[in-house]
Amino acid sequence: MKYPNIINKLSLEQKAMLMSGKNTWETWTFEEEGVPSIFLADGPHGIRKQLGSADHLGLNESIQATAFPTAATLANSWDVDLIERVGEALGREAVELGVNVLLGPGMNIKRNPMGGRNFEYFSEDPILTGELASAMIKGIQSNGIAASPKHYAVNSQELRRMSVDSVVDERTLREIYLQGFEIAVETSQPKFLMTSYNPVNGVYANEHEHLLQDILYGEWGYKGAVVTDWGGSNDHVEGVRQGSHLEMPATGRPGALELVEAVQTGRLDESLLDQRVDELLDVLLQIQIPNPGKDSLEEATKKTHHQIAYQAAQESIVLLKNTNQALPLSGKESVAFIGDFLYEARYQGAGSSTVNPTQLDNLIDLKEQYNFSEVQHTRGYRRDGKEDPGLLNEAIDLSKKVDKVVIFMGLTEISESEGIDRTHIRLEKNQLDLVKAIRSVNEHVVIVLSGGSVVELPFADDVDAIIHSYLSGQAGARAILDILTGRCNPSGKLNETYPLTYSDVPNEKYFPGLELTAEYRDGLYVGYRYYDKVEAPVRYPFGHGLSYTRFAYGGLTVEGHRVQVTVSNTGDLAGSEVVQVYVQKASEYVFRPVKELVAFAKVHLEAGESKVVNLELSKHAFEFFNPQNNQWEVEAGAYDILVGASSRDIRLEETVELEGIDAKGLYHQTQFETYFTGKVKEVSAEDFEALLGRPIPESHWDKKAPLTHNDSISQLYYAKSPIGRLVYKVITALIERSNKKGKPNLNLYFNYNMTFRAIQKMTLGMVNHAMVDDILYIVNGHFFSGVGRLVKNYFLNQKVNKAGESND
Ligand code: BGC
Repeated sequence: MKYPNIINKLSLEQKAMLMSGKNTWETWTFEEEGVPSIFLADGPHGIRKQLGSADHLGLNESIQATAFPTAATLANSWDVDLIERVGEALGREAVELGVNVLLGPGMNIKRNPMGGRNFEYFSEDPILTGELASAMIKGIQSNGIAASPKHYAVNSQELRRMSVDSVVDERTLREIYLQGFEIAVETSQPKFLMTSYNPVNGVYANEHEHLLQDILYGEWGYKGAVVTDWGGSNDHVEGVRQGSHLEMPATGRPGALELVEAVQTGRLDESLLDQRVDELLDVLLQIQIPNPGKDSLEEATKKTHHQIAYQAAQESIVLLKNTNQALPLSGKESVAFIGDFLYEARYQGAGSSTVNPTQLDNLIDLKEQYNFSEVQHTRGYRRDGKEDPGLLNEAIDLSKKVDKVVIFMGLTEISESEGIDRTHIRLEKNQLDLVKAIRSVNEHVVIVLSGGSVVELPFADDVDAIIHSYLSGQAGARAILDILTGRCNPSGKLNETYPLTYSDVPNEKYFPGLELTAEYRDGLYVGYRYYDKVEAPVRYPFGHGLSYTRFAYGGLTVEGHRVQVTVSNTGDLAGSEVVQVYVQKASEYVFRPVKELVAFAKVHLEAGESKVVNLELSKHAFEFFNPQNNQWEVEAGAYDILVGASSRDIRLEETVELEGIDAKGLYHQTQFETYFTGKVKEVSAEDFEALLGRPIPESHWDKKAPLTHNDSISQLYYAKSPIGRLVYKVITALIERSNKKGKPNLNLYFNYNMTFRAIQKMTLGMVNHAMVDDILYIVNGHFFSGVGRLVKNYFLNQKVNKAGESND
């Protein structure tokens, strides 16, 4: 133990209290004994520190902070230095505002384009995710505070995120869903790590022996603290036993007493509790901020960071298509700017990552600063999706009069939010109709898309050019104009594949998991790992992005994990290229994706310049995770190193021979045929069981069984008691009402997807475990006796809380 002098002074109850929050954002302090408190705050692309009423869903306003581009946007930069700079800036703002732990970056794998939080996550690829998250963590922590990468692990859907069990085989778990975390933990040593809400293979992530003890602490040597997601703790005693430290937000004295009782009854060793307190103290003491936080950022910080947000947006915007020399705009042509997003930028998503920006640039205000000979503009469509013939006709009339039309469109706020998965990946019909109508009167149409997740682009073949700005943060508007006019040469590349239609998505049939489980039947075949394996046509491949200049590749050499390649800018403009290295291995014995990203680098080149680029391949570049002996292993044989500008634009190739294991007999071709072919859209139960190595767990609720702590509020639909069913009806009616108004109510969604147990975990001690039992008793059909018990337990719990207050 490092801090016996502090720990020996703490009572058992004090130690137990330290394992939980004091309120929504802070931990307990025991000044006399030498225990400082810390402040934790979201989020991944801007600080969300609330001064007034606290909530974890971004509902109430927070102090102004810089809204940087979201992770899905930053990831398109493929630029680790840039992302480290963004991290540094995030960390500096955290320090100024008195935040010790920044709850980010979010690093779950974007398994399906409909995942509600995809805009907050980096990529469909674990290497890109891991490297970028690692850079951000380094940047944040260079300020002496902690980053808290999240959500560990296998959390790719929002529907019933607190209860749906992610059923995944060990190899997929390691290679796809954990590899990013492995890179981040090993290369940037985050001081905090947030577990996810969901169970993984039947055990809640926050109390998962395999995820925490074996892998995080054991294999990766993690030295930081582990925090639950807000309300995500299930069995806190078990969490503490398995290495989780902090249950957030706060379960009050009743929560602490659960740990005390566990020690007294021998379920939890006091020495283990001491060890957790010691580990937590070690982190708390390292991340103290010398000056108390202010209520607003320094003016100078706001200014410099707006500039960093702007550079980040410039580097992240992707030019998807450019024909007929549509872009950059010459400045001489007459242009119409059309779209609601012109007037109010679409720049971030909704939920816990919501930032109250220090300023918000809008295209309409900035366009005067560019040399357009003539720009007229109009709204074109309604943001809420409703038809408006007046706006449409105005846009058509305007389009007839100009040389080129630029349409600013994309996903609206309602489509991208924590707490809600999308139900389709289409753009609003009124926007699609607008493009069609304009295209019929003007041949030269440029689309500027905004939105943090994949959408279908049915008009892609009919327009001249498409720029994708993703969610480019508070300074994104200027960056978009820079790219349109050529002041900045685009260099972003997609962090995810754009399929032609949703029906092309490999796990379309298994997403989201609806009742008890989410079956990861698609295994390793996520994103390009699938599309490239089965050679499915896609709209835009992973890693795709154009430039106003051209790049040539040559001089590939491979030595061990080192790859060298020469890239030349053969055009007349300075620009940046993202060099991507993939490994390919044909094998009869081990099924694999056709290629996997193993390294990348962004290089800036003046016109005519060449550079030698050195890349280090990822640790597991040549390995697969062998589930038979639980080890990463190299299969002996030939490996192709592919170097290119996207997963489907490979320019150079080199083969190396490696020694390794003889994998004969590991996977039988016939038994694992689906996984050898990669055709995972229809994986039979038999095939998935073979992959899992165990029977598939029950996926349906037992609708007759009484509701329990880990059932979700949405299951009140099946409640025995009419009161329970009425509550369900009220919640769903309110949800529908708010959706109709065009502003989904996140609080209601949170409650709908929340488990009964979370009532205890989210109410700062107002409700204890026994009271949740009573609530369940009521909804399970014992109204009168249940209410009686609830009232009795309410007063008992009040007493416990009061006794705690008088001890303070
Ligand atoms: C989110 C986390 C967030 C936390 C605190 C949760 O609902 O899942 O990502 O950090 O709230 O706001």
